[in-house]
Amino acid sequence: MEGKKLWGGRFSESTDAFVEEFTESVSFDKELALYDIQGSIAHAKMLGKQGIIPKEDAEKIIKGLEEIKKEIEEGKFQWKKELEDVHMNIEKALIEKIGSVGGKLHTGRSRNDQVITAFRLYLKNEVNNIINLLVELKKTLLKKAEETVDIVMPAYTHLQRAQPIRLAHYFLAYLEMFNRDEERFRDNLKRIDQLPLGSGALAGVDFPIDREFVAKELGFSEIMRNSLDATASRDTIIEFLSNASICMSNLSRISEDLIIWNSAEFGFVELPDKLTTGSSIMPQKKNPDVLELIRGKTGRVYGDLVALLTVVKGLPMAYNRDLQEDKEPVFDAVKTLKGSIIGITKIVEGLKPNEEKMKQAAGGFALATDLANYLVRKGIPFREAHHIVGQIVAYLVNQKRELESITLDEFKKFSPLFEEDALKILSPYNVADARKSFGGTAKERILEQIQYWKENLE
Ligand code: ARG
Repeated sequence: MEGKKLWGGRFSESTDAFVEEFTESVSFDKELALYDIQGSIAHAKMLGKQGIIPKEDAEKIIKGLEEIKKEIEEGKFQWKKELEDVHMNIEKALIEKIGSVGGKLHTGRSRNDQVITAFRLYLKNEVNNIINLLVELKKTLLKKAEETVDIVMPAYTHLQRAQPIRLAHYFLAYLEMFNRDEERFRDNLKRIDQLPLGSGALAGVDFPIDREFVAKELGFSEIMRNSLDATASRDTIIEFLSNASICMSNLSRISEDLIIWNSAEFGFVELPDKLTTGSSIMPQKKNPDVLELIRGKTGRVYGDLVALLTVVKGLPMAYNRDLQEDKEPVFDAVKTLKGSIIGITKIVEGLKPNEEKMKQAAGGFALATDLANYLVRKGIPFREAHHIVGQIVAYLVNQKRELESITLDEFKKFSPLFEEDALKILSPYNVADARKSFGGTAKERILEQIQYWKENLE
């Protein structure tokens, strides 16, 4: 068998070197090696227990697989492209190690159910890692919110100053978004956590296998009910890439905010030195490269999603080799997403808000809506109040004055309904705290949100 393909029996000439190079996947799917061995050990145990192969043979196979596992972990294993993929590499090494009895491992199994079993084990583990990273990020956002309850800043629509909020409100908004990301991954996990092994190539297996046993051994909560579905479908994997894409979109948006806030023009935050990089030519610069790369890498993950969606579109039932293309997008998305969550966590943890700058920007014309609402409370229809305050703004802008510089006498020229208490509105704190509706930015509401997350995150 030395040098021969494991499937070589039917062939009279050896594979063209181009074909070997073009069809191989071991260069990337060796990432699944330990999961493949885990699956094979469970399968061999089951074959022995069921008397499908002699118990002693099963034991030899398991021992051989454990040795191979050690070699891989120690980086001593020799991967060979001519053996196509991770599965064939391991099986061939097993046969070389323990002799022809190693060839009994593949009884009652196909690479089609084998590959998706290893992939699901891998993804289950990685999704749990991603969930843990999201929990860390949520805790960091909560801590930052607690620190910034008393900082006011302008919130923006259309990137125009809109209304003052407390900075904590901003961090709590992202906490909500990343919490939904986590929920999506948890929900995805229910569908990843299903055993495909025992489906054979596509139609099931003609040996008395015990799938319950294998599911228990591998820690799968459920067994896939249909062998065609189990081997041919990748929608659960696409769901993962979709969740990863959505999560990246949230990470990209917070990155964009912090990039803008970190600019000299805004100066709202300072990023820690250790998380920024310098320019090779302009000595004054401290670049937010980590944030820019998170924003940029979001494109890769969207690409990963579209790649796999396109791979499965138009595939006839059941397995087709096209499905080998499912792995690289997922490996790429997992690596990119994990790095991006860690990056944002570190940056949120280390950023220092510039309280003075934010407060200054939160005042002035950002308080105009509240002035209009003041008149509304005195009985003026909102549209008219909006118009009156618009005239006040124009009047002050003409004189290059800020809203805070207005006097009560000037107010009264625009509407006799203005009284002494109108001047109280000219504080961003008071304006923020007036928004007491559920979900609003008033201090008491923010403290409630913080309390909610404290109870739900610990
Ligand atoms: N490397 C293959 C994949 O990733 C394994 C399954 C191959 N199955 C087959 N019938 N050629 O999909």
